[in-house]
Amino acid sequence: MVDIVKRFPGVLANDGVSFDVRAGEVHALLGENGAGKSTLMRQLYGLYRPDSGQIIIDGQPRVFHSPSDAIKAGVGMIHQHFMLVSSLTVAENVALGLPSSRGARLDLDRVAERIRALAERYGLKVDPSAVVWQLSVGEQQRVEILKALYRGASLLVLDEPTAVLTPQEAEELFVTLRQMAADGHALIFISHKLHEVLALSNRVTVLRDGRMVGTYPTTEMTRADLARLMVGREVLLQYDRPPAKPGEERLKIDGLWTVGDRGTDAVRDFTLSVRAGEIVGLAGVSGNGQRELAEVLTGLRKPSKGAVTLNGKDVTHASPAERIAAGQCAIPEERMRTGVIKDFSVLENAILCDHGHAPYSHQTLLDFKTIAAHTQQLIADYAVKTPTADTPVKNLSGGNIQKLILARELCRKPTVVIAAQPTRGVDIGASEYIHHRLLEQRASGTATLLISEDLDEIRALSDRIAVIFEGRLMGVVDAATATAESLGLMMAGTRHAD
Ligand SMILES: Nc1ncnc2c1ncn2[C@@H]1O[C@H](COP(=O)(O)OP(=O)(O)OP(=O)(O)O)[C@@H](O)[C@H]1O
Ligand SMILES: [Mg+2]
Repeated sequence: MVDIVKRFPGVLANDGVSFDVRAGEVHALLGENGAGKSTLMRQLYGLYRPDSGQIIIDGQPRVFHSPSDAIKAGVGMIHQHFMLVSSLTVAENVALGLPSSRGARLDLDRVAERIRALAERYGLKVDPSAVVWQLSVGEQQRVEILKALYRGASLLVLDEPTAVLTPQEAEELFVTLRQMAADGHALIFISHKLHEVLALSNRVTVLRDGRMVGTYPTTEMTRADLARLMVGREVLLQYDRPPAKPGEERLKIDGLWTVGDRGTDAVRDFTLSVRAGEIVGLAGVSGNGQRELAEVLTGLRKPSKGAVTLNGKDVTHASPAERIAAGQCAIPEERMRTGVIKDFSVLENAILCDHGHAPYSHQTLLDFKTIAAHTQQLIADYAVKTPTADTPVKNLSGGNIQKLILARELCRKPTVVIAAQPTRGVDIGASEYIHHRLLEQRASGTATLLISEDLDEIRALSDRIAVIFEGRLMGVVDAATATAESLGLMMAGTRHAD
């Protein structure tokens, strides 16, 4: 890609970016939220047209009018949000849109055969006859990769593929990607996790504010180097935390049970309390009931047994609005589905939940002057990168949407915060920022339940760490003395707290 320029209204997303990837190489693309990584890759995949600049593949200048042009040129892309048809099987999804070798009749058995061969070669465990909705996120990702390989992709773009994976699944993905590179594929890998970039890539290109910072051989880089190139300053992710001064019990979960989407118990007899001025981390491998627990605590899922008390008040069956009124706020795990309304503007999203009362509305009329001033304040306080307050939220980069949610929730001065994966997909500079904000809340006496699959995050922020396994509490340990090893054993369900 040579001298690529791409402008959106009010944003210069790519400002003369040049970038190349070779056969047999994993090239990492690194940069803060909004740096222009996805935009650059969407041009390579034919989703956007560059305003100027050239895309050259195998020595040949190319103009892509759509992804199908890019696919014909051997480019594949794995998006962060999968594009599979959930009611079809794996083989049907792979065959979708491709000509059949038997004319009008589908040759699914042949497709399945080839899928098996590809899956075998690259260690992608999936059953071609499985229906997609039954697959885990990691399995769906493998189907997306198989689909690209099946179409003959020799260059594969992976936009934050590990953001949705457990650490074990990420390891498996890396084995696959290394095998693909060894076979001569060219891979472009986007991630905010520096240790992944260091472990997997041969070269790394850093973008900042739409511009190239540079391309470097990975072996010459350290974590600190990369952080400095991305953010323009040192990022430590280590915090000075004054000792906790826990006050009264703010959130109490007592013998809680709930049923998951597949009809089995997702949370089983779970008991935990969080006091004022402390952060309790909930660690666990994804899929062990954390999501369902957070849904019960925010009023989105019904408990089948047990009780939840918020500031001394029974909220077991309370609605989300009643919990907000009682002083709780939540940072949801799925920001696009439950955190924002993506077609609404930044301004409209900034007052969600608060739109019905003063000072934002009077009787039935919204007070746009007050709302605009409030939104500008949030944008400034939380460094949300957006052209204007009227920009639809879907045009913001992932990390900036997360900052907006955090700004909206924390400005209510909650007494209890339920934070689920608060820094997923967020760059390290912004992660540090979010962590500081959570620690600020702690200092001001908020009770925080931090649900995260990132053990480093849990250990950096928590006063006590609770571990969940198969919906049950494995134990609660003091964060100061807990080792990664003992937490790992508890997360794997093989050991209880001492
Ligand atoms: N379709 C669009 N319309 C308007 N602006 C857009 C659009 N897509 C991206 N942008 C803007 O372009 C800039 C670059 O966004 P991009 O999504 O490429 O960032 P990114 O590096 O992928 O960030 P993240 O790490 O958060 O995913 C951002 O300021 C974003 O708001
Ligand atoms: Mg992106």
